[in-house]
Amino acid sequence: MQWESSFETYHEEDSVVHENQRLFAKTWVNTGSASRITEAGDCVPVSVAGLPLILVRDSEQQVRAFHNVCRHRGARVLRAACQGQRLLRCAYHGWSYGLDGALRGTPHWKTSDQSAPPGFDALDFGLEPVRATVWLDQVFINVDGQAPEFTDFVAPLAERWRNYDLDLLRLGQQRTLTADANWKFAIENYLDTYHLPMVHPQLGDVAAARRFLDVNLDGTVFGICYTTGAVDKPKSSGQQFQRFQRLTDAQRAGQDILALYPNTLIELMPHHMMLVTIEPDGPDRCVEHLNFYFLGEDATNPTLESERQKTAEAWCEIMGQDIAILGDLQATAHSPAAARAADMSPAWEQGTAAFRARVASALLDPV
Ligand code: FES
Ligand SMILES: [Fe+2]
Repeated sequence: MQWESSFETYHEEDSVVHENQRLFAKTWVNTGSASRITEAGDCVPVSVAGLPLILVRDSEQQVRAFHNVCRHRGARVLRAACQGQRLLRCAYHGWSYGLDGALRGTPHWKTSDQSAPPGFDALDFGLEPVRATVWLDQVFINVDGQAPEFTDFVAPLAERWRNYDLDLLRLGQQRTLTADANWKFAIENYLDTYHLPMVHPQLGDVAAARRFLDVNLDGTVFGICYTTGAVDKPKSSGQQFQRFQRLTDAQRAGQDILALYPNTLIELMPHHMMLVTIEPDGPDRCVEHLNFYFLGEDATNPTLESERQKTAEAWCEIMGQDIAILGDLQATAHSPAAARAADMSPAWEQGTAAFRARVASALLDPV
């Protein structure tokens, strides 16, 4: 099937498997904020490339990921997020695992009385690890273990943002939106500048919407840089927030609106960052996890709470205005007429076009 030349991957149930194998299993996928597991023993179940995984904060405060599959008979080990665990215990027959994944307990199962199979060694049956790392407070996972090192994967973006002291960013607000649309529509629309005056009139007129430069870094980062975006838009209130100190004049005036392939959206301003994790949910639905980060104590200072909320609400209003549009895109995705739509605009839609091409090339990869 020619997935790359049609809209099947935007609506067909089968395409989810195809996409999981060729795209999500092979790269670094964002599973959301590490704030869900802040203390040792905190754990949360997630799904990447259709596979059930566990994220754990271990006793050394490192984030680890394992397949959420018991090594005895394969039952899911972790059903729901929990906190302060010392062991992860399977509900089926009680095998238990340490925070390092090692198999620690096998009730009524030992080789000495032949209740365990001959030669059974617990060392061989820890939870299977999965590559995990944390960057910008997000837990990134590579399921197949074959992706480049994460530091290489994000190097183009880290280099672009070397003047931003990203380590200062702290989580201050969170919101969640759901869209009845394929995850790719959510990202393509985020990168689309053409709709801004039409759908988000509060952001300014057509001239304001055109003041951007295309950004395309190495096949992993797509989007635009608004050259005056930080200063000429209503949502940029929040002058009370402290700003990154080492920015160039252009960076002080601008804002980056970028997608980190495959499922992270980032809007970086001189005084805050919105980071959105797009969580696919089948072929025709996705969840948008909006995280708002501020510098240092600005993220928690009680006197700035209403400013933080205002910032989050302004963004939520914008992202919310897109939800109906995403539904309109999804409603026609199965129509052959949708696949005969116009080519993308060289002026307005290069971010969208580049992301779509990147996905198409991934879906052509052999499994
Ligand atoms: S399947 Fe987990 S203990 Fe049996
Ligand atoms: Fe929009």
